[in-house]
Amino acid sequence: MGVDAVLYDKVRAVAWRDGVVRLLDQRVLPATLRYEECATAAEVAAAITAMVVRGAPAIGVTAAYGAVLAVSEAYRRAPTDWRAAARVDLAALRESRPTAVNLGWALDVMERVMETIGAGSPVAAVLAAARRLHDEDIAANRRMGALGAALLPPQARVLTHCNTGALATGGYGTALGVVRAAAATGGIRMVYADETRPWLQGARLTAWELVEEGLPVTVLADGAAAARLRAGDIAAVLVGADRIAANGDTANKIGTYGLAISARHHGVPFYVVAPVSTIDVATPDGHGIPIEERAEGEVLGCQGLTHSPAGARAWNPVFDVTPAALITALITERGVLPSPDAEGMARLLAQPTPV
Ligand code: MRU
Repeated sequence: MGVDAVLYDKVRAVAWRDGVVRLLDQRVLPATLRYEECATAAEVAAAITAMVVRGAPAIGVTAAYGAVLAVSEAYRRAPTDWRAAARVDLAALRESRPTAVNLGWALDVMERVMETIGAGSPVAAVLAAARRLHDEDIAANRRMGALGAALLPPQARVLTHCNTGALATGGYGTALGVVRAAAATGGIRMVYADETRPWLQGARLTAWELVEEGLPVTVLADGAAAARLRAGDIAAVLVGADRIAANGDTANKIGTYGLAISARHHGVPFYVVAPVSTIDVATPDGHGIPIEERAEGEVLGCQGLTHSPAGARAWNPVFDVTPAALITALITERGVLPSPDAEGMARLLAQPTPV
């Protein structure tokens, strides 16, 4: 596949197209390639809640474009007082999913831009800001990819959880961006992708991204990850993040915590790959991270089929928190932080983003 045709440049989880937000419907991939178009901020919020788009950075980018819709609707209705009307929609977007901090971060960026706009239509200025935020996410991913790939031996076998690729971000990916960068430099022998129950982000989305690019992928039932790590041939575990507290504790897809314990037990490096927009300095440690719980039916069945008997209950937290002490290093666009803790995190955040 030529460089121009690679999947992550061809397929965007989120795009602004002729006044609407166009989302690749991730609920039906890889069987169906279908797009959903949102013409209002309320439709964008509903799409985020329904998991049409998912992955912390992709949710942030989507919310930024949602803010553009909010502002243009508000300006149409109330040209002199559009900020107040837009803020109502922004509040609804903020509530659309609780754990990924990139959502609130992107809306904060957009609100700050809204404050700086003078008389006349604000739409061009907010659209430019959303596009900038989107471009910066891709640039951050490429930088993290290069930094992460440098930590891997040539022809590494790696293990990953959930989907952290082009679909989960503005493009290219975080942990999967490291895989992409490594594949282009030292090569990648195998990517073991946890299936990631209950939404199967690994079995469906990560496997799809890798197969489309001709990269080797082996899907694992989540319960098989420890046995795979015990086999002794995994160079690193690479995961993304939904919210990283000020001390480095990291919320990510449910199952990440168990994977981190298992990686530590087997002496395998455990890397978290995330842009600084995923760091929440206002939350001192992982205890303060809100963990989304979704419907029981997502666990009692799968993809529309119920497999548990009527009367069985389910517990469905969709994220867990990995204590910083289990993280070998945090890879961000500002650099690699080994053994993250509160001091190191503060030092990292004080660095400028390289241009
Ligand atoms: O519920 P999801 O699919 O939105 O969860 C996504 C994850 O947990 C990802 O690992 C995380 O957002 C990082 S994506 C670069």
